[in-house]
Amino acid sequence: MTQQRTATINFNDGTPTLELPILAGTVGPDVVDIRPLYGKTGKFTYDPGFMSTASCKSAITYIDGDNGILLYRGYPIEQLAQHCDFLEVCHLLLKGELPKAAEKKEWDDRIRKHTMVHEQLARFYSGFRRDAHPMAVMVGVVGALSAFYHDSTDINDPEHREISAIRLLAKVPTIAAMSYKYNVGQPFMHPRNSLNYVENFLHMMFGTPCEEYRPNPVLVRALDRILILHADHEQNASTSTVRLAGSSGANPFACIAAGIACLWGPAHGGANEACLTMLEEIGDVSRIGQYIARAKDKNDGFRLMGFGHRVYKHYDPRAKLMRETCHEVLAELGLQNDRLFKLAMELERIALEDDYFVDKKLYPNVDFYSGIVQRAMGIPTSMFTAIFALARTVGWVAQWNEMISDPEQKIGRPRQLFTGSPERNVVPIARRG
Ligand code: SDX
Repeated sequence: MTQQRTATINFNDGTPTLELPILAGTVGPDVVDIRPLYGKTGKFTYDPGFMSTASCKSAITYIDGDNGILLYRGYPIEQLAQHCDFLEVCHLLLKGELPKAAEKKEWDDRIRKHTMVHEQLARFYSGFRRDAHPMAVMVGVVGALSAFYHDSTDINDPEHREISAIRLLAKVPTIAAMSYKYNVGQPFMHPRNSLNYVENFLHMMFGTPCEEYRPNPVLVRALDRILILHADHEQNASTSTVRLAGSSGANPFACIAAGIACLWGPAHGGANEACLTMLEEIGDVSRIGQYIARAKDKNDGFRLMGFGHRVYKHYDPRAKLMRETCHEVLAELGLQNDRLFKLAMELERIALEDDYFVDKKLYPNVDFYSGIVQRAMGIPTSMFTAIFALARTVGWVAQWNEMISDPEQKIGRPRQLFTGSPERNVVPIARRG
């Protein structure tokens, strides 16, 4: 019988010493179970940004930031990117196992049958300005899905959760492509059941009613891999947002809309768009030095977009795979000498030789190369984060499902260290001088 490991907190303010259990996962850091802390001591922990806090138990994705390892349900991201397609990875994340061949066909067909959106939903777009950012449109339209599916909003019903997951996986690409079409003033393209998931998305993005659209198979495979790389990533900011929204019992469409809103930030999923804008601004290898200097200057708010990560203190394995995908796509398109790709590789080389980045363990993250490859594919910068959201929808839904099924989960309600005014009395305005 192994002895329960504990952590002892000794206080020097008269608070009784507290023994707290240490819990171990299958792999990765142990956790100190602080749930008794407030009840036993009247004290909170303090951890802005959750630098040292595990918000939940999860069996979905594991990251070893020191060694640049990313596993989805135990499978290394490199192997999934090589041997699977995105819908296989969706099955893995949602159901815990890779599908067998027959299961895969049934899974693909099931999702394909839900790719259309309600005609009334298409009318939401006309309420936006044509130049509305696709993420603003997606937050609105995905959230509005809950107005169309009153038949499946009981989050405690596994069948309702299943059909909601299928609808989200199937419809978010359609909604994303529609936000692009609305932007460029072209007609919405209906999904095609003769196409696979990524072919369909590219068809809805770049096809027109005027002619047959044949997606380039190299680009299809590249985008499929990009979706795999972005599918889930443990308890990142947007996933934590989805879990927090879901902890109140909100419907899945509202929770995913909240995740989309959070992902939009430039410190998170918006970094791919910000990184490309930064590369365009740098413009030339000769200007890299001044931007590296700005990134190191504490008085300058500038950060090297696509660099650094809260968890990875080594090379983000996704960035490596994204760089390979960049090579493949640029070669396929005859853009080997793409100006921005060469600039990005030189920026990476210089930064990784600079003590500031080495000492702070700042490496390229998933967003550093993803914009370059998407731009080469003809995807506009404003759509980069929308495609990140499209890919991450499966991870958000898997984590939301796990949270709802977790008996230990309660509504998320953090406390605070109050630094405001102690109680004081109101002076009526006539006497306030
Ligand atoms: C994603 O969490 C996830 O898993 C996210 C994600 C996912 O798949 O869900 O991986 C996707 O969001 C990737 C990250 C994309 N964001 C960016 O590329 C934006 C640029 N990066 C940074 O803003 C920053 O690195 C973060 C936000 C990613 C991480 O920030 P942390 O963990 O809060 O670290 P920090 O801001 O405290 O930085 C530590 C130090 C600081 O210097 P000191 O105050 O210690 O002196 O490193 C510096 C920072 O100033 N630093 C940078 C930098 N990133 C950190 N300096 C220059 N350029 C940078 N990019």
